[in-house]
Amino acid sequence: MPDRIEQLLQNRTLPDKELKQLIETDAYDCALFARADEVRRQYYGTDVYIRGLIEFTSFCRNDCYYCGIRRSNRKARRYRLTKEEILRCCREGYALGFRTFVLQGGEDGCDTDDRMCGIVRAIRETFPDCAITLSLGERSYESYRRLFEAGADRYLLRHETANEAHYRRLHPAELSAGRRKQCLWDLKEIGYQVGAGFMVGSPFQTTENLIEDLRFLQELKPAMIGIGPFIPHKDTPFADFAGGSLKQTLRMVAILRLMFPYALIPATTALGTIHPRGRELGLQAGANVVMPNLSPANVRGKYELYNNKIYTGEESAQGLERLKKKAAAAGYRIVTARGDVFGYKKTDVCNGHL
Ligand code: 5AD
Repeated sequence: MPDRIEQLLQNRTLPDKELKQLIETDAYDCALFARADEVRRQYYGTDVYIRGLIEFTSFCRNDCYYCGIRRSNRKARRYRLTKEEILRCCREGYALGFRTFVLQGGEDGCDTDDRMCGIVRAIRETFPDCAITLSLGERSYESYRRLFEAGADRYLLRHETANEAHYRRLHPAELSAGRRKQCLWDLKEIGYQVGAGFMVGSPFQTTENLIEDLRFLQELKPAMIGIGPFIPHKDTPFADFAGGSLKQTLRMVAILRLMFPYALIPATTALGTIHPRGRELGLQAGANVVMPNLSPANVRGKYELYNNKIYTGEESAQGLERLKKKAAAAGYRIVTARGDVFGYKKTDVCNGHL
């Protein structure tokens, strides 16, 4: 079996059958994580990039069955930050050393192009040396284009699952995997550094689905790949489903690192939520980004995509020092560089795959 890992390391890809075996056994996790860590050190050293996450609205027009801020959840506490509040988060983050701001929110009808472009422009003018990442869900090509012109550099939009039938089991009829993927292609064409990704262990997910996710990513070649375990939220239709496991998520992180050596792969909040050392373990399995929360303390509890989301402090900007110590103890170094990935060098493309 370690041959499989070597083969993956050499070719940056594996046939479906071998991938399936790798995904379904925990027998070789140690070797897999060690190889992933090697590749990550080869490409990125011990550097860990930090992104300041600003969860600026918990209103959402969508009704995804897994998500705590879905529109049908009457118990969700809704809030929306003003432009001034968002800028205050950025100022605080900048002083702490953040050079990337991620504006993430539900699909809030109030976030018109005019409002969002105004916010992006203000951040761009105030912090010309920073990267602006948007994560606002599905919008039109024209809207993405305007936001890019206004100064946004990157866009995160998880594809959630590449399989249309699986997508339909996780979302209401008005949403489709096809539309989701089209948004990602649009974003790429416009010139954004794009982030895609999926949940591990989401309801009805099969190994074949995960392989399809990897194949889609090989096609898309995103700069960033965000994955985390599915965590049930009690006020959603998926309340009684099992969550994704730590092991399976770490295994997928490691496989991603071997397939996409250049990718920015975050050790996500969801990973930190299911295990006290989840994020450090993520880093040791090949992840190289963490996204501490820069949202104002009084709204943090309200952006509840899943239950028990961590607010221990390390995920907050104020806890940055502690996070640095934890990363150092795990063998890594938090850096403040923007950490851009514009594309892949030709030499990193092997057999047509990354
Ligand atoms: N568990 C884990 N991740 C979730 N997300 C939404 N709901 C959940 C959940 N219950 C993820 C989705 C989305 C991202 C912002 O959060 O993948 O793209």
